[in-house]
Formats: sequence, structure tokens, C-alpha cells
Amino acid sequence: MRAVGVVPARREVAMFGHAKPCLTAPTDVRIRTIEVGICGTDREICSFAYGTPPDGSEYLVLGHEALGEVLEVGAGISTLKPGDLVVPTVRRPCPHPQCLPCRDERQDFCFTGDFTERGIKMTHGFMTEFFVEEERHLNLVPDELSDIAVLVEPLSVAEKALAQIWQVQQRLPWEEPLAADQPRGAGKTAVVLGAGPVGILGAMLMVVNGFRTFVYSRSRAPNPKAEVVEAIGAKYVSSLAVGAEEFAAQVGGFDVVYEAVGSARISFDLLKVLGMNGIFVFTGIPAQQPAIPIEADSLMRDMVLKNQVAIGTVNADRPAFQGAIRDLGVFKRRWPEATRALITGRFPMDAYRDLLLGKSTGIKNVISFG
Ligand code: BGC
Ligand code: ZN
Repeated sequence: MRAVGVVPARREVAMFGHAKPCLTAPTDVRIRTIEVGICGTDREICSFAYGTPPDGSEYLVLGHEALGEVLEVGAGISTLKPGDLVVPTVRRPCPHPQCLPCRDERQDFCFTGDFTERGIKMTHGFMTEFFVEEERHLNLVPDELSDIAVLVEPLSVAEKALAQIWQVQQRLPWEEPLAADQPRGAGKTAVVLGAGPVGILGAMLMVVNGFRTFVYSRSRAPNPKAEVVEAIGAKYVSSLAVGAEEFAAQVGGFDVVYEAVGSARISFDLLKVLGMNGIFVFTGIPAQQPAIPIEADSLMRDMVLKNQVAIGTVNADRPAFQGAIRDLGVFKRRWPEATRALITGRFPMDAYRDLLLGKSTGIKNVISFG
């Protein structure tokens, strides 16, 4: 079967033949790939910034944002059957018995660093016609989400981030919802930094959770991303039109900043104007860049005097994937057009070079396997 991947030793991005996988354990599931999303991580792997083939392989099959259809299940499987739609998680646990997170299915918090990630680190990804995966790494998707379920993985990053925000902000006991029917973000302000897929999906999640939501991104409005942002009831603000200080002065205090842009300069500009008791969450993975000056003393002073927190978050656990599946359903009912508009292009496998190496266009582009 055909697969798309990288050969780091030769700095090649290529389509090649890859052995068709088959079941090797009673808990295995064989899956036909339906769609795979392309993201910044894939493009970075194609610039050989990172990305590691499995031991003994010279290539790494790319792809970590997948939707597939179950074709065959092992004898030990009761929760999935042929015909079911599934989205796999990305990270696989490390082998060390002392790594409690990995032993507890929280490999997103692996502390040894010896985890693997499908399509990224030492395990082949999903940019191929068929794959095999263990039941415990698969999430069942309802049929009515088939047209957008390829967005589950990028949304899972925001779901984990929001779960972390609630956990950390438990330090502020009065910030619990006042009434049972009130969303937890009611009365709070969230800024999403960046209008890529992880940013816009994060903004949708913030709006659904009741936050007054802003998306702060470079390009001036009007533009297609700003249109989607406004369609979901968030406000789009261009950093070219409004500087960070002015933005903060207008809005009057950010409770949450959710960074989804992967650029340090604009992130630290916003960290500087985080509100009282605020939390700043980094999700972007910046490329190596020349050092930039930051006002470290004033940042430190503010973090102390304003009780601020900055955290990083990577990857997502299964509950975050399940939350993403649930919330994509919510988004689709609330904003059917805006949600569909996130997928700006569907391409055949042959278009891989342009998608991975060409200019990045649209919001989320995907490879369709038909
Ligand atoms: C993926 C995560 C992964 C991270 C770092 C992201 O693009 O969504 O699952 O942990 O890259 O490899
Ligand atoms: Zn990704």
C-alpha cells in the first residue's frame, strides 16, 4: 500500500510502498484511513526540525490527525465493530514501570521522555491506506460527525488545555460556577492567540464554555479566519491594527490567554498584559529563532503581584479526545457553516508535496483516502 513520509537521513519527503498491517493481538483493530489532517507539526518534520523513524526503519510515515473506518477487530474486542468510525490518539506510553503517568494512561504527562508518538516520534503515522491500532488508543465517533471528525485531534489539544486551566484555577475557590446551569467560563474573558485550526477550535471551545472570547492574530480583518471567528460570536482583533497594551486596555483584563501560534514574541507581549489572577497557557512549539529581548523584571514582578500562572501543555489524553468528539457535535449544531468552513481543502494523496512543502494556505487541509 502507499504511504507518505520522511527519510530524515536523506532529507527526503516521499510517497513509498509500506507493508499492509495485520492484526497481531486480540486487542488490535484494523482500520481503513478515511482522512488525515495536515498541521504545522507535519510541515516541521518535513523541514527535518524533528521527527524520528521507528527503530530499524529509515523512514517515518507521517500523519497524526486521522479518521478511519474499522475493517476488522481482534477476538478480544467488544466496544468496536466493522463499520465504526474511529479517531486514534497520538501518544503511546513509555516502557518504564516507574513512569506513573504512562502506567495510568496519562502518557501525555510521561516523565521519562521515552514515549512515542504516531507520525512524529518513533512510531509510524496514519498517512497511509490502512493501519492497525490497539482498542485502548481508539475513540468511537458518531456517524453524523464523519465530515468534520478529522478535527478531533487538533481540538483535543484545546480540550486538554481547558481541563488544565480548570485544575490550576481551582486555586481560586470563588471561581466555581454560581449556578448549575451556568457555564464555568461565564463572566470571564479569554484571549486566543492565533487563528490557525488549534486557535479557532480553541475559541469555539471557549465560547461554548461561556467565556467572552477574543482571537488575537496578525492579519488585518476582513479575512476568512476573522469571518469564522465573528460567526461564532468571538471578536477578532488584528495585532497589526491593535498593539497588545492597547488591546488589554480596551478589554480590561484577560483571565485566560490560550496561546496557539508558536511564536515567542507575540506570546510574551500578551503575557505582559495578562490580568489579575490570570492564567497563560502555551501550546505552540516555536522553531529555533535568534534570541529576543524580554522585560524579565517587569514580567516577574507582575507574575508575583498579580498571582499569575503560565503553563505549557502538550498532547492529550483519552478523555480530552472524548471531550473533543462531544464538543465537535456541539459546535456543529450551533455553527454548522463555521464548523464546516474550518476544513478548507480536501486533496488526494498525490498532492502531498504541495501540502507539506508548499505555502501553507487555508485553515485545515486534509488528505482524503476516498
Ligand atoms: C500534536 C501532539 C503532539 C505534539 C508534539 C502536535 O502537533 O497534536 O499530539 O504531542 O505535536 O509532538
Ligand atoms: Zn497536529
